Amino acid sequence: MTIDLNSRYGLNPAHSEVVEACKVIEPCDTLDMGCSNGRNALYLGQLGFNVTAIDINPAAIDSLQGIAQQEGMSNIKAQVHDINSANLSKDYDFISCTVTLMFVNPANVDAIIADMHQRTLPGGYNLIVCAMSTEETPCPVPFPFTLKAGQLSEAYAGWELIKYNEDVGTMHNGAKLQFATMLARKPV
Ligand SMILES: C[S@@+](CC[C@H](N)C(=O)[O-])C[C@H]1O[C@@H](n2cnc3c(N)ncnc32)[C@H](O)[C@@H]1O
Repeated sequence: MTIDLNSRYGLNPAHSEVVEACKVIEPCDTLDMGCSNGRNALYLGQLGFNVTAIDINPAAIDSLQGIAQQEGMSNIKAQVHDINSANLSKDYDFISCTVTLMFVNPANVDAIIADMHQRTLPGGYNLIVCAMSTEETPCPVPFPFTLKAGQLSEAYAGWELIKYNEDVGTMHNGAKLQFATMLARKPV
């Protein structure tokens, strides 16, 4: 039986879209962008993915490194890295960026996505979940960056969109919050 490491270390379960993506993607070289305390990296690592987990927060990286060491998971590498640099240092089969893009500098978003494209191997995958702000549903949270309607699908023109939606959800306080959710596959 697989031990639930997220529970053991008091972490939330992996993001539901990471769990869904793992039904499509076989274990491979994976980048977790904005990994925070590692809920997704640990889930992926337990499934046998070879994970590089990056975050700008050194405390989050320390914590994830500690867990990976404690569990003897040499397939998880956690590194402090500023996504704003748009300068990933290696190629990956799968790049996951869940609820992170809205915290970067808006001026860097095009370069960050272009770098993700470049650093994805042919036939590889990108998963992005990011808040939106549209005329119909203005974002009620002051994130530094939000996507416009259709912006993410346009940025991935030429890729196979395995999953794409711009669904509106409801927050605990009743406010409407729209998210773009995309799993895309780079042409081989
Ligand atoms: C809401 S958390 C999302 C964590 C994780 N992806 C998940 O699905 O639970 C956003 C994370 O992005 C990180 N972050 C924000 N700006 C960043 C940047 N410029 N470079 C790297 N990480 C960043 C934050 O430190 C935080 O851990």
